[in-house]
Amino acid sequence: MVYQKDNLLFTTAISADLALKLKAKSFTKIFVLVDDNTEEYCLPLIQNALPENSQLIFIKSGEAHKTISTCENIWQTLTEAVADRQALLINLGGGVICDMGGFCARTYKRGINFWNIPTTLLSQVDASIGGKLGVDFGSFKNQIGLFSEPDQILIDSIFLKSLPQEEIISGYAEIIKHALIKDENMFNELLGYDLKSINWESLVPRAVTIKKSIVEQDPGENGLRKILNFGHTIGHAIESHFLAKETPIKHGEAIAIGMIAETSISVDKGLLTEDNGRLIIDFLNNIFPKMNIDEEAMSKITQLAFQDKKNVGGKIKAALLSGIGNGIYDIEITESEIKKSLLSYKQLITD
Ligand SMILES: NC(=O)c1ccc[n+]([C@@H]2O[C@H](COP(=O)([O-])OP(=O)(O)OC[C@H]3O[C@@H](n4cnc5c(N)ncnc54)[C@H](O)[C@@H]3O)[C@@H](O)[C@H]2O)c1
Ligand SMILES: [Zn+2]
Repeated sequence: MVYQKDNLLFTTAISADLALKLKAKSFTKIFVLVDDNTEEYCLPLIQNALPENSQLIFIKSGEAHKTISTCENIWQTLTEAVADRQALLINLGGGVICDMGGFCARTYKRGINFWNIPTTLLSQVDASIGGKLGVDFGSFKNQIGLFSEPDQILIDSIFLKSLPQEEIISGYAEIIKHALIKDENMFNELLGYDLKSINWESLVPRAVTIKKSIVEQDPGENGLRKILNFGHTIGHAIESHFLAKETPIKHGEAIAIGMIAETSISVDKGLLTEDNGRLIIDFLNNIFPKMNIDEEAMSKITQLAFQDKKNVGGKIKAALLSGIGNGIYDIEITESEIKKSLLSYKQLITD
């Protein structure tokens, strides 16, 4: 055991620590939710800790399967196995498995126990923490869901060894976001890191601690928690745009461009100095893939930003930066500010 706080355990011995945690409780039956990849790469790392009568629930991997129809299969399996309220569902996977498994667990028979063992960088530093559970509905992301904290989260960076590099980069965007909104020192350290040689064992707990402390102060996202949406107003619009074009890009890649755009809006509004803006933008642009956003895409992305869940009364409310390590929220941004920020992104990648 490496570090433990409340329902969160960081470990470098996942199998032994999972076995200890399971021993300390008594569940009538244990179910483990996996997808194609986590069954192959992650299950072997925890198999020894699972009792013989535990049961796998298998789903196909990918955001396309984060649907009510997949939930029906999960509920069906639980029902056929006569799972009762003392059953436990262990979510072994990325954000799709953690969000959807948690949702299924908390709605089956009005709620059974669920634990998260996040296996992607994104789910370790973001999706497994904070209790947002749910599934997509049609083309609307996370449209159906609820807030409920997992009973236990176990994080081990060993899972990242089998993760494709593009998934690592995607998760890294959220780590950078956590530093930018809350921890200037951490951002300065990130400036000196080479992505290929990062020590995740020490970086992941720091990023998680930032998210956890923000969520604890505002679990229902009525105020402070909104700073976690930095980069996401424009980022989500970019993500939806590429999804609609059937050329989906990774969440973190979209959020990185969103952070670049929202950093330049922060500078334009006089909230952030030009020097700091330049530092952040150059840093992000050096790490993340460059996306071609033409005039037509700019209009579409701007329109999509008007559909953001966080908007109020038809006005776009974004989280911006008033300094490095200082996220602020509920700042109105206009259509022309978004267009200008996307134009300057275009300029940046063609320079
Ligand atoms: N609840 C929240 O607060 C929150 C926050 C951010 C994102 N999310 C959600 O998270 C989802 C994205 O999460 P994600 O990026 O983890 O996607 P994901 O769950 O689809 O995982 C990405 C891919 O990696 C594979 N994979 C998982 N672990 C692996 C491993 N150790 N080795 C090899 N392959 C592995 C998966 O099978 C999948 O193909 C989205 O649905 C998003 O809405 C939720
Ligand atoms: Zn995100």
